[in-house]
Amino acid sequence: MTDSPTATTPDAAEPPDLEDPLLAAARQADADDELAGLRERFELPDDIVYLDGNSLGPLPKAVLPAVTDLVRRQWGQDLITSWNVHDWWGLPRRVGDQLAGLIGAAPGQVVCGDSTSVQLFQAMVAACRLRPGRSMLLTDGANFPSDQYLADSVGRLLGLQVIRLHPSELAAFLAEHGAQVAAVSFSLVDYRTGELFDAAELTRTAHACGAVMVWDLCHAIGALPVALDEVQADLAVGCSYKYLNGGPGSPAFIYIAHRHQRQVELPLTGWNGHREPFGLNSSYVPAESIEQARIGTPTLLSMVALQAALSAFDGVSIARLRAKSLALTQQVIDFADQRLARFGVEVVTPRQPGLRGSQVSLRMPEAYSVCQALIERGVIGDFRAPDLLRLGFPPMYLSFTEVHRGMQVLAEILADGSYREPRFARRAAVT
Ligand SMILES: Cc1ncc(COP(=O)(O)O)c(C=O)c1O
Repeated sequence: MTDSPTATTPDAAEPPDLEDPLLAAARQADADDELAGLRERFELPDDIVYLDGNSLGPLPKAVLPAVTDLVRRQWGQDLITSWNVHDWWGLPRRVGDQLAGLIGAAPGQVVCGDSTSVQLFQAMVAACRLRPGRSMLLTDGANFPSDQYLADSVGRLLGLQVIRLHPSELAAFLAEHGAQVAAVSFSLVDYRTGELFDAAELTRTAHACGAVMVWDLCHAIGALPVALDEVQADLAVGCSYKYLNGGPGSPAFIYIAHRHQRQVELPLTGWNGHREPFGLNSSYVPAESIEQARIGTPTLLSMVALQAALSAFDGVSIARLRAKSLALTQQVIDFADQRLARFGVEVVTPRQPGLRGSQVSLRMPEAYSVCQALIERGVIGDFRAPDLLRLGFPPMYLSFTEVHRGMQVLAEILADGSYREPRFARRAAVT
């Protein structure tokens, strides 16, 4: 394999190597990829380049047998006895401990259940209640809408002022107003730009003025190392349908550091979080452990699917996943710089490896139409208003060669202008 086209002699045994140097590099990267075999753990159609696993991960092969067993044998035959016989009751905690292992948390601090939006509400209220008398809740003005809407809702509920600022502005803001800030709620990776923030530094900064830190890990868990215990995080939440491949609508999780579990006061006091759930008392007493963060009956079908999906991570080092993810995103940034800039495409994801998650967002005119045209050609990414084509690069199952193919299709669509056909501009309900 060569990096550049070479001259050939007419009787050379090998065909002339006129290969694109970026493709040659992608092929070499695949040949060197120690994680290449992990793709076997997933059902992925061969004719699709799936660059949207940061929105909905593909189907891990372990899921179907697990869900079939749950439905046929456990639900179908063992019926309600399964709550004990198959320990359905303990599942939120067991899956929580599995998730804890992916975010640098010791067991007993994570419980699985409900949606990220619900967990954000739980976490932000609990965080603010840990600092009574303080009047401000901070969120990122570029945070995912739910994070911002729920911060506003928590502000109204608790009578707090909600301030929006970028994580880079935190230190300066706290230097002036730190004593008034109850809690800071940021996402570790910006869902739109893919910017990765420094969890240790921001948590330290928040703590220095006595504020409680809430992390949203939706775009980080399963894609890059997270060290919640090490950075002394307080509370965190995240979803499981992106890089964890838990399936559509799979349950979220909440992390509450051990040191807060005795004082924390969660707002959603459902019977599952009671110290004695089957005592059926009329007043609520929270469990002393992380079990207090349970709310109602767990969604067993999707939690079992998630548990099976997590087996795709068995024996896989997050550090290696991160290294491959950075190589993939670098490949895409290089491609965009060399071949897409002439179409007015701008890379908005940070170029410094330490500052980016596992996605590359490209700003371009008519990004929505480009995204639809790509999908028609079997390259699936997504659009984020107003002008971003967002491409995700989960390292578990993507090859460098197929990523190159996807980018090549993007270059072709931009060059031939086919995305301008009116049908590509028609907005679907989900973009
Ligand atoms: C960063 C972030 N936070 C929160 C959410 C909301 O999650 P859910 O719709 O599962 O409540 C999302 C959804 O994509 C997200 O990306």
